[in-house]
Amino acid sequence: MMKIFVEKDYEAMSKKAAEIFIEAIKEKPNIILGLATGSTPIGLYKELIRAHKEEGLDFSKVTTFNLDEYIGLSPDHPSSYEYFMREELFNHINIPRENIHIPDGLAENIEEYCKKYEEMIDKAGGIDIQLLGVGENGHIAFNEPDESLSLGTTIVELTENTIEVNSRFFQSVEEVPRTAISMGIGSILKAKKIVLLANGKRKAPVIKKLLSTDRVSTKFPVSFLLLHPDVTVIVDEEAYNG
Ligand code: GLP
Repeated sequence: MMKIFVEKDYEAMSKKAAEIFIEAIKEKPNIILGLATGSTPIGLYKELIRAHKEEGLDFSKVTTFNLDEYIGLSPDHPSSYEYFMREELFNHINIPRENIHIPDGLAENIEEYCKKYEEMIDKAGGIDIQLLGVGENGHIAFNEPDESLSLGTTIVELTENTIEVNSRFFQSVEEVPRTAISMGIGSILKAKKIVLLANGKRKAPVIKKLLSTDRVSTKFPVSFLLLHPDVTVIVDEEAYNG
């Protein structure tokens, strides 16, 4: 079942999402969170940092697993997702380093590492709340539209569209890695609860399609969320109305 909240703007969307996460962390201090990168969740992360600093929201028992990472970028590369997460969230809250998991883009044997990452999530007890953004082409994490989609964490090839769209986080489009490690559609659907955020006009076509379809398609990966029993979609008016 998909619950949808339409909020006035980006700030209101971020606050609504933060309410859900803050409540959940208070209720279950050792919660397992699935986290996302991209422009969309930055406002939510700001709210979580605010709640930590002003209200003492405690992250000391929280565990996190990130959705994806570019292959070949070191954690200190300014465009890596690990760097992003440190800057936008982890450096500003009291989460222990050992509770943070982000796929290792420099792993020697990536295929083996992907299996290990999936096992680590299962061993931790599974994700309680998975945060998601959505790509303009309907990708979630880096599960790009394709003939088939991976169930578990895997190596993915990015589409030209995604490379182009994500080049804004790099010096040039040539610098964007062409492959990534990504949690699979199955890894995402195993989460107990999913929160999907989208804001801005660029996301309006994908949100419209998601909210009007009753079919799942590997060509539209976000549609697989229709199979999950507890999905909350939070969008701003621009993403809802176009
Ligand atoms: C990126 C990430 C996704 C993210 C999406 C949307 O490529 N791999 O996890 O949800 O694209 O990004 P943004 O929030 O910047 O629009």
